[in-house]
Amino acid sequence: MAIRSEVKEKYEVGRSEYMWAKKSMPVLNRLTHRFVSKRCLENFNLGICLHITKETSVLLMALKDAGAEVNLCPANPLSIQEPIKSFLIKNGIKIFSKKDDNLLDFYSNMEGVLDTRPHIITDDGGELHKRALYRKYNTMGGTEETTSGVNRLKAWCKEGLLMYPIIAVNRSRTKYLFDNKYGTGQSTIEGILKTTGILLSSKRIVVCGYGWVGRGVARCAIGMGAKVTITEVSPLRALEAFFDGFEVKPLDEVISNADIFITCTGQVNVIGQDQIEKIKDGAILCNAGHFDVEIDINYLNSIDQNHFSPRMNVECYRVGENKKKIYLLAKGRVINLVGAEGNSPEVMSISFANQFLSIVYLSQFHEKLNNKIYKTPKKIERKIILTALDSFGLKIDSLTPQQNHYFKT
Ligand code: ADE
Repeated sequence: MAIRSEVKEKYEVGRSEYMWAKKSMPVLNRLTHRFVSKRCLENFNLGICLHITKETSVLLMALKDAGAEVNLCPANPLSIQEPIKSFLIKNGIKIFSKKDDNLLDFYSNMEGVLDTRPHIITDDGGELHKRALYRKYNTMGGTEETTSGVNRLKAWCKEGLLMYPIIAVNRSRTKYLFDNKYGTGQSTIEGILKTTGILLSSKRIVVCGYGWVGRGVARCAIGMGAKVTITEVSPLRALEAFFDGFEVKPLDEVISNADIFITCTGQVNVIGQDQIEKIKDGAILCNAGHFDVEIDINYLNSIDQNHFSPRMNVECYRVGENKKKIYLLAKGRVINLVGAEGNSPEVMSISFANQFLSIVYLSQFHEKLNNKIYKTPKKIERKIILTALDSFGLKIDSLTPQQNHYFKT
């Protein structure tokens, strides 16, 4: 009896979280309405690998209400919001994930989704696509949510390994300009604050990488009074960071006196053994990139097998002869989704409108596409921009006939 009421309570919390997110996702709600009433995804099976959050639940419910069969597995083992899972299961969405899954289970859940033979695959990170490419059945197409996933897909495409067309949602301006920058910028800082409770004002923060996520993180950190330094390998991005007002330095020059390091590069071993040895006592390390490869966690684990957790999502490692303490957040996994709740519904509304409309587009036009990577179609992008403007109550000017003419002369 107690277990049943616990399940019910979880479901109610999940339902309430879904409703809470949905009310702040007008772009997705408005743009899906027509497809839902026409049940335009009837008879389509979707294989989906996304972070299981309240925002994702709004996307999945819209897909299901448009008639699709939805099979879901998590994109990260630590970012699962259990009440949302409970809500989705009760609403007929099949979820391949159990509460105490280990890393092996995490990957076999992806195989479980593929066993359902999805017509369309939606992924965040490229791991589900990678597995699908080894299976030789007829997938109609796929979509990809994140930078790291798109980079992997580009490499597979070059090698001729793509077996179906992909719409790289992350390459849509309506995705990265808002979600990656403002969404992940804010939620990364939120993750650091939730896990540590520290004051950001006056802290020396190093942001490694000045892509869209790095730009957003740096902007939020400086807004809270931190002293921010950017490290980059791209001369152009370094120059941009400088013109944006940030200090730009090689990592080696700032490694020994920063309080917090945030990796946003998508690269491996950005903070490796050499850097860890030079970091000052009490420094905090965290990662905002998709994979847990930017900080050398294996090295940290090897030098302090007795590392301990002073509080949730914080690991303390003692390094070197002086046993200086280094704090790793969220086990080096995406801090914004593990330490906090991920990006806010306002930006996920725009990203997931891209996802929904790209899935519908693939269901209708996959036969006309090649096994290549496509951007979100321009028409879809424009619809999203106009709907977003309208939903925020924004009005803009238009060119006069004279101005229109002037452009053409
Ligand atoms: N990626 C970043 N934030 C997210 C969120 N709230 N839901 C799903 N995926 C995300």
